[in-house]
Amino acid sequence: MSRSTDLLSDALTSLRLAANAWYDYRRFARASFVVGQRNRENQRAMLHILFHSIEHGLSLPEPRPGFGREKVDSLLRKTRAYIIAFGPDGSTASALSALDAWVAFNRQVGENVDAVADELEQLNKEAAFRTSSIVGGTEELRAADIKAASTKDFGAFMQTRNSVRQFADRPVTAAEIEAAVRAAQQTPSVCNRQTCRVYAFTEKDDKARVLSYQSGNRGFGHEVRAVLVVTSNMEHMNLIGERYQQWVDGGMFAMTLALAFHAAGMGACMLNWSVTKDVDEAMRSCVGIPDNEAVITMMGVGHLKEMFKVPCSQRKPLDMVLSLNPALNMNAPRVNLP
Ligand SMILES: Cc1cc2nc3c(=O)[nH]c(=O)nc-3n(C[C@H](O)[C@H](O)[C@H](O)COP(=O)(O)O)c2cc1C
Repeated sequence: MSRSTDLLSDALTSLRLAANAWYDYRRFARASFVVGQRNRENQRAMLHILFHSIEHGLSLPEPRPGFGREKVDSLLRKTRAYIIAFGPDGSTASALSALDAWVAFNRQVGENVDAVADELEQLNKEAAFRTSSIVGGTEELRAADIKAASTKDFGAFMQTRNSVRQFADRPVTAAEIEAAVRAAQQTPSVCNRQTCRVYAFTEKDDKARVLSYQSGNRGFGHEVRAVLVVTSNMEHMNLIGERYQQWVDGGMFAMTLALAFHAAGMGACMLNWSVTKDVDEAMRSCVGIPDNEAVITMMGVGHLKEMFKVPCSQRKPLDMVLSLNPALNMNAPRVNLP
């Protein structure tokens, strides 16, 4: 190839990269509420951010009496507005439970929070949607209980996890998928915003169609018994600094999901969603994934064969991965956080 053809090809690739970056930017700007709250999900996210902040404060070693009053007032206002606009639901129930816990804590330490308590009582009456399964505030945990439930050798568990690309001729049931997704719901998420969703397919033709948008399943896609698509809702992001948060929360959720299948004695293989905007748009249109949800990854799942092969996938030496107490540059600039 001539030098001018090389230059032209590089320029075209740069342009395509810019067009794809613009696609990501535009979708994040439209879905998130970095600039202005536009819809119910944005408002729900705000409730989660605020009630999480109250629960967080309550769980600190020594919560300050009356802490977070501005946020409490804001949460009261926003919960009322949300209930008027959309009616009570699980998010408002969690918000009200967190506020109940805040009032209870303050009364216990002798802080006068009658004004908040009165308003909360009124709101609690209006919001009939309170179920015993939705709790807020803090819960007391016992280290012994956690240790008893963590008796598994996690290192050994992880040593036996591999990406599995051969599966037994046995269906994956709805109950198996539900159990894994329920476990993945325990994944931490920024301010407990829980942005992830899983689209699951177990029917032959649907699986094949969804996999047709992904090239990394070539040679084994036909063996996959369930195809999952993991997404993260960008409507829950509200800061410029959160512009990549969906990828972090979504990636962590996807990993827990894969581990949940591993823990159930099944196999899973992540199927990358490293695609350009045209493929992203086509797949989302086929599956019905809205513009506000970023596709994190696909995943192939199935039951294990009696015997099967996986790549060795040797890991790097630990010193290439772990820097223990590296020397700090004390001359680096300091910053004032907001
Ligand atoms: C985000 C992500 C996307 C991946 N996409 C694919 C894929 O498209 N096809 C595939 O066969 N494996 C895929 N993998 C699996 C990796 O190849 C595999 O994790 C890696 O080689 C290490 O092997 P192990 O998982 O068996 O330890 C993906 C893994 C990740 C984390």
